[in-house]
Amino acid sequence: MLLGTQKINSANHLEIGGCDTVDLAARFGTPLYVMDEAMIRERCRAYKSSFASEYGDAAVAYASKAFIVTAMCRIIDQEGLWLDVASAGELYTAKCAGFPMDRILFHGNFKSPAELEMAVENDVFCVVPDSFVELDRLNAIAQDAGKVQNVMLRCNPGVDPHTHRLISTGQQDSKFGFNIKDGSAMEAIRKAISLPSLKLIGVHCHVGSQLLDPTPFVEAAGVMAKFIRQIKDETGCEIGILDMGGGAGVRYIETDQPATVQEFAKLVSEALIVAVAEAGIAKPKLMVEPGRSIAGEAGTTLYSVGPIKRVAIPEAPGTRTYLAVDGGLSDNPRPTMYDAVYSAILANKAGDEPRVRYTVSGKHCETDMLIPSVLLPEASTGDLLAVQTTGAYNQAMASNYNRFTRPAVVLVNDGQADLIVRRETLDDLVRCDVVPDRLK
Ligand code: LLP
Repeated sequence: MLLGTQKINSANHLEIGGCDTVDLAARFGTPLYVMDEAMIRERCRAYKSSFASEYGDAAVAYASKAFIVTAMCRIIDQEGLWLDVASAGELYTAKCAGFPMDRILFHGNFKSPAELEMAVENDVFCVVPDSFVELDRLNAIAQDAGKVQNVMLRCNPGVDPHTHRLISTGQQDSKFGFNIKDGSAMEAIRKAISLPSLKLIGVHCHVGSQLLDPTPFVEAAGVMAKFIRQIKDETGCEIGILDMGGGAGVRYIETDQPATVQEFAKLVSEALIVAVAEAGIAKPKLMVEPGRSIAGEAGTTLYSVGPIKRVAIPEAPGTRTYLAVDGGLSDNPRPTMYDAVYSAILANKAGDEPRVRYTVSGKHCETDMLIPSVLLPEASTGDLLAVQTTGAYNQAMASNYNRFTRPAVVLVNDGQADLIVRRETLDDLVRCDVVPDRLK
């Protein structure tokens, strides 16, 4: 499985964005996140053009939680996408990148008063309130600032997305959104309309992430269109924007078959067009917020191979070969959190026949299994392992567990490699530590 601009070059090495990964590892060290700029841009363009042609009046916001660093915000801005942020930190990063605030949506199930103030102060396009207390707080903050803040309400459509339970959000039992079925969403709509410093411009839902079968989007479109009709009938308010949340799933392993961006856009657009006609409402502007499908497959993590250990195990085939890499849980918590499974390539022997089954383990003081089972060419200590599809929710979820320094990120394109996040140093690890006088 080769993704984006990945190919095997004449030296039998994995190449990404025209850069030899063995050279990248030598130049920038490992572990190293490598981001394929051409692929990111291609995905942004595919989202924009497919929704424009399939639906018409549509806007695509990149869900920055997937991977947000200042350079990424620059790319997203250059591609003309909007940006979904879900914390002060994400908003601050966008601001540092000079991202236009009038293309920013502010999400989150609990935005602190300081975050709401930051959103209003910076004139973000819209805030997406998720609770009654937030509606009141936001109204008061906007009032104090002498502003009227656009809002889009986060609704829970009660649709089960059938993905990992930790990334399911649209089902009835969820901390996210105002529940449509139990009447809270309509109550929130009435409240938003009544608050003088808020302007209700839309409704939002997000059913879940990594949906390999996107049909829950069809169900959600039906529920949301009916709800927009109900809002009109009961309050007279015409909802102008419907935001359908996250985007398509991605390929982690060869057998994953997510919808392409084009297929996803067609499915969501057609579903909404039908739902709108059935509900008898005017066609709202459609927004979508893909994160994983823009950044995910564009990222590859390079690790140095450490000790390789064969151990006897009770079950067949009787032995297991552990291949340790110089990272793991701290740069990619997804296998541990979501049982996520990844593919890997031995980057310095990329074209060799894969014939040994390895268990890739990290170097943390944990079980820390990065890939439970992967077929690779015969590996040796000192080889370079490339784990694929690590562009989304990897660097963004990285930690300093065991006081590991977080890896660098390089952006590759057309033979050029640029550092976009420098590797943390040991000094960075103690930078925020404070020793009280009594311990000195
Ligand atoms: N919009 C909202 C409101 C969201 O909550 C999310 C993801 C997205 C958009 C983007 O969804 P995507 O296109 O990436 O599927 N850490 C987890 C994923 C958490 C997703 C949370 N929300 C993981 O590593 O799988």
